[in-house]
Amino acid sequence: MAIDRQADLASLVQPRRVHRRAFVDPQVFDEEQRRIFSSTWVYVGHESEIEAPGSFKATTLGVQPVLLTRDTAGALHVLVNSCRHRGVRLADDHTRGCTRHLVCPYHGWTYELGGRLVSVPMRDRQASDFSEETLGLIGLRVDSYRGFVFATFDRATPTLVEHLGAAARYLDLFADLSPTGKIRLESGVTKYQFKGNWKQQVENSMDGYHPAIVHHSFFEDVLKPRVGRGMGFIVGPDSPAKNVALGNGHALLDFSMFDRKGMLGAAKAQSEIEWHEKIRARLSDRPDYAEEVIRCNGGDGFNLLVYPNLVLINNQVRVIHPLTYDTTEVYAYPATLEDVAPQINTVRIRAHEDFYGPASFGAPDDIEMFQRQWDGMVRSTAMEWLCYDRGAEQETPLGGDGRESHIADETAHRGIWRRWAELMAEPSSGPRPMAEAAE
Ligand code: FES
Ligand SMILES: [Fe+2]
Repeated sequence: MAIDRQADLASLVQPRRVHRRAFVDPQVFDEEQRRIFSSTWVYVGHESEIEAPGSFKATTLGVQPVLLTRDTAGALHVLVNSCRHRGVRLADDHTRGCTRHLVCPYHGWTYELGGRLVSVPMRDRQASDFSEETLGLIGLRVDSYRGFVFATFDRATPTLVEHLGAAARYLDLFADLSPTGKIRLESGVTKYQFKGNWKQQVENSMDGYHPAIVHHSFFEDVLKPRVGRGMGFIVGPDSPAKNVALGNGHALLDFSMFDRKGMLGAAKAQSEIEWHEKIRARLSDRPDYAEEVIRCNGGDGFNLLVYPNLVLINNQVRVIHPLTYDTTEVYAYPATLEDVAPQINTVRIRAHEDFYGPASFGAPDDIEMFQRQWDGMVRSTAMEWLCYDRGAEQETPLGGDGRESHIADETAHRGIWRRWAELMAEPSSGPRPMAEAAE
């Protein structure tokens, strides 16, 4: 069925159910690129990945290749990774480097890291009205919060802080675990690709219903021998943990009431005591918040979704890249902390590998579910509507669009879909990059 009306898109989402077409229809994917990935703030990278002046990182914003750069004066830029001459991609996706100039490999047009075109081979053969001023790389609006860099094609969308809303507090909790207030993404990345839609990974990251089933082996064979109990106390019926819609599509699994690290029962090493004292010293004007930072231990205390493509979970910064309607790539970076003993970060990286590595206890099981879900949704055309009603009658309002309920409910998912429907219902003229939108 052709999608020619906004109402048609919006009709795919109802308060407690979503039509399978929202996942499996290639036209819906194309509309998402225009109405979501080209119009709202999208995470593109972390400042620690482009720390030195002259650094760049090639990544994707939705399906579009972009360059995250830091110019020689230290300013951040996000540029469309496509030469203004004939469109050649200047750097391969997911590569990084440090350079004075970006040089197109085809005919040698040369750009500064801020995007300005500064050199054209055999310049005197260009037409008389040729102007470098109008042929810089196309720039996006860019902003950064606690080192997390976001960009948008839309000049009119609200500020990044307004967009983040209630999610900003959890980015703070994650970054403030570092004694300097800065995390680093410099310890490699776990990558996986699956045959399926990007929203499956978004939903799974906020799914407190599946761990006791899909990750049964981890919780029974790994966690229980160490903690003395399985997963039931976190996701079981009596758990105080929450499934939260934060508004704007952002969402949370909130386990911050548990001292998960303390539950392991091991005596604190001196390096850990010193690390925590540094956190308390830096946050001495907010002692209660400092204790919350330590108790949460970053993403051990919560899973955060910053809609549409960023997830913080355990030590991990997870980035969801939609490639096509049926292919999704996920980059999972273990975040390390500044100014702590090396063994603190070593433990964080090993924990990341244990649950998210290719031979780990966690991610492979989720990916298996993604494949089975995709297979079921694509082939079972008679099964049209997917069910999202868990906890719908037991939610607690949090103000605005915020709501919370039991961890294994689907409050987060309903919030994600409300935002999806809102964005998909907006009229869209497609990407409106800064350089082209400028008068
Ligand atoms: S395509 Fe880049 S210089 Fe020709
Ligand atoms: Fe999982």
